[in-house]
Amino acid sequence: LLSVRFGRTRRDGEPPLINSWIPFLGKALEFGKNAHGFLAAHKEKHGDVFTVLIAGKYMTFIMDPLLYPYVIKHQKQLDFHEFSDHVAPVTFGYPPVRSGKFPGMDEHIQRSFRLLQGENLNNLTESMMGNLMFVFRQDYLTGESEWRTESVYQLCNSIMFEATFLTMFGKPAHTSRHSGMVTLREDFVKFDTMFPLLIARIPISLLGGTKAIRDKLINYFHPQRMSQWSNTSGFIKERAALFEQYDSMGDVDKAAHHFAILWASVGNTVPATFWAMYYLVTHPEALSVVREEIHGVLQVSGIEADHNGDIAFTREQLDSLLYLESSINESLRLSSASMNIRVAQEDFSLRLEGERSIGVRKGDIISLYPQSMHMDPGIYENPEIYKFDRYIENGKEKTDFYKDGQKLKYYRMSFGSGSTKCPGRYFAVNEIKQFLSLLLLYFDVEVLEGQEPCTLDPSRAGLGILLPATDVQIRYRPRRS
Ligand code: HEM
Repeated sequence: LLSVRFGRTRRDGEPPLINSWIPFLGKALEFGKNAHGFLAAHKEKHGDVFTVLIAGKYMTFIMDPLLYPYVIKHQKQLDFHEFSDHVAPVTFGYPPVRSGKFPGMDEHIQRSFRLLQGENLNNLTESMMGNLMFVFRQDYLTGESEWRTESVYQLCNSIMFEATFLTMFGKPAHTSRHSGMVTLREDFVKFDTMFPLLIARIPISLLGGTKAIRDKLINYFHPQRMSQWSNTSGFIKERAALFEQYDSMGDVDKAAHHFAILWASVGNTVPATFWAMYYLVTHPEALSVVREEIHGVLQVSGIEADHNGDIAFTREQLDSLLYLESSINESLRLSSASMNIRVAQEDFSLRLEGERSIGVRKGDIISLYPQSMHMDPGIYENPEIYKFDRYIENGKEKTDFYKDGQKLKYYRMSFGSGSTKCPGRYFAVNEIKQFLSLLLLYFDVEVLEGQEPCTLDPSRAGLGILLPATDVQIRYRPRRS
């Protein structure tokens, strides 16, 4: 094994430096296997701020969530474009946006994110509801009244993937469903399995058939093909129109951008939906409270929970599903492991609380690792336990969480922070709410007995929602109204 002594000496004012003989990539692999445990052990030994050399990069971890605001509030020396500028183009196969080749495009892309939020969310949510009901009806609500078995991941993946696809990109010209959706989904999963390696900058040429699979996925979004689709979201339409304005952008580059949005919109949402459903169906009390809440909200508006008819939720109704929302947030707390990174643009002194500051060198990465906060017993009592109503207090959303007696500004960070916060977060939570509401309105669902509890597969540590290490079987049948 290649062992290298990476020699940098700690300077005055810099955090403790963990600088040892490191097998190349060694710390990265150790980190990937158990990031939370790795960081907890270092914190125990070196305190709440320390620098580690991971895969050739000096990464300074700020472990105390009370210090998060000092990193998140925009500091001019800290750049947050690392992912969108460098990592995403290599991973998804398009030319870097801020390379100077596409003047103004970055600003337009940032502006397009408003189409996922605010008033614009109403159309998306309505469209998603129609698409969810459509897929449920076509594939699952077949009128038979007997129990059928299914795996939870399989169910979430097949429904959420297609319904989200239809909502974002629209439907083909003469039919309601895209041909080859099953293959597309399977190819997507193959690509997604390689995603952590691509993000770690392993050249795609070394990853077997991954390049061919990615090319196939990208081709699905060829502009000529997309121009035939209808009911496309305003978000995708605006981006497609933007790309048309740049002669220097080839058709395959445009398609690769759309493919990246497919990844952003389902890559985390599917596992997040899995965990939300898994925890509900394995916690009978949570399931019954949430089910009652959904029925309660629908009855207020006089809509029949009739699985042959349409079910419509207004935005207000969706927003009022507090227990459902708390249960989703609780499952996000337990399953998310995204890392927030900022890159130092110069040598400077990063101000933390009071008189405290730390020396940072140009090119160093400042990292927040919210999973450590999510699992901190000083903030969340029995953090490893799923408590569906953890985010509810006195009938309202609970927003005050404390560390060492001080109120935390950030206590749940599944969607990133500050300038790189996920623009699709409201849509994501809404669509998970819609999926679970329909599931519980349409079906009785029970977990089959004798199965081991699901554990987290750590291979995506740092990159988003972790996948389950194993799937879990349920049985379901249509509910009689
Ligand atoms: C970015 C999480 C669903 C669109 C991000 C980031 C995180 C995240 C952590 C920030 C990455 C960084 O630090 O640079 C999640 C989770 C989701 C979810 C946990 C589901 C539970 C969605 C959905 C959409 C979406 C449904 C779109 C419809 C995006 C986009 C970005 C992004 C476009 C890049 C933003 C930029 O370049 O500034 N997401 N996301 N996400 N997300 Fe999400």
